Amino acid sequence: MRRKIVAGNWKMNGSKDLVQQLVGVICDHAVGLDSGVEVVIVPPAPYITLVQQQADGKLALGIQNVSQWQSGAYTGEVSADMAKDLGCWYVLVGHSERRQLFGENDEVVARKVGQVLESGLTAMLCVGETLEQREAGEAERVVAGQIKRGLAGVSADQWSRVVVAYEPVWAIGTGKTATAEDAQAMHAEIRSVLESMKAPSEEISVLYGGSVKADNAAALFSEPDIDGGLIGGASLKADEFISICRAFPAGS
Ligand code: PGA
Repeated sequence: MRRKIVAGNWKMNGSKDLVQQLVGVICDHAVGLDSGVEVVIVPPAPYITLVQQQADGKLALGIQNVSQWQSGAYTGEVSADMAKDLGCWYVLVGHSERRQLFGENDEVVARKVGQVLESGLTAMLCVGETLEQREAGEAERVVAGQIKRGLAGVSADQWSRVVVAYEPVWAIGTGKTATAEDAQAMHAEIRSVLESMKAPSEEISVLYGGSVKADNAAALFSEPDIDGGLIGGASLKADEFISICRAFPAGS
């Protein structure tokens, strides 16, 4: 089913103290809203259990990355099965920082998607073009390629555990956001790419990410093909994050 989701990607930020400060407040003010938003926290892996304890079942949990392998002699890696064992539900795959800083290409991304789906978790595939690609008029082609290659191995019964996050690279952590109209146009395009892959495109949640804040979330979330957000910097501030979770139009 197409869900409304707001996911907070803490990246490599936080501490035990931050977990104590943020999670309870978020649970009290952002969860159980009438608008039926699923609130997800994606902390650094070592804090997953602590977040879970603080959230007491009220929030969904995600992990920022998993290994492309199932288990074995891969020092430093964390498997999708382990994330599941810890109580995670979502896994970010192919975040632009992983692609740019850790050399993850679409082949690696596809293997990770495979591990996530095999383990029974939901893959949140992140896609997006660079500024150079957008200026060259290649944004749609780049994003379509990332989706087709990243999700090439998804079987018919696994689509219900796929979420796509469109995050233009030039908007991540920069304070620049795509306009709601531009984001909507890309989200509609993403749905048509999914359709061409025989995926149930109307059932798949497509989130927007890239400098989402309390003051731009409402415009983005009013667009028909934007089902929520993947939030970086603003997810570390309780008031910002709570406002974003509340930014869906009434009755949507
Ligand atoms: P940002 O990050 O909200 O800080 O731009 C978004 C993301 O990287 O998921």
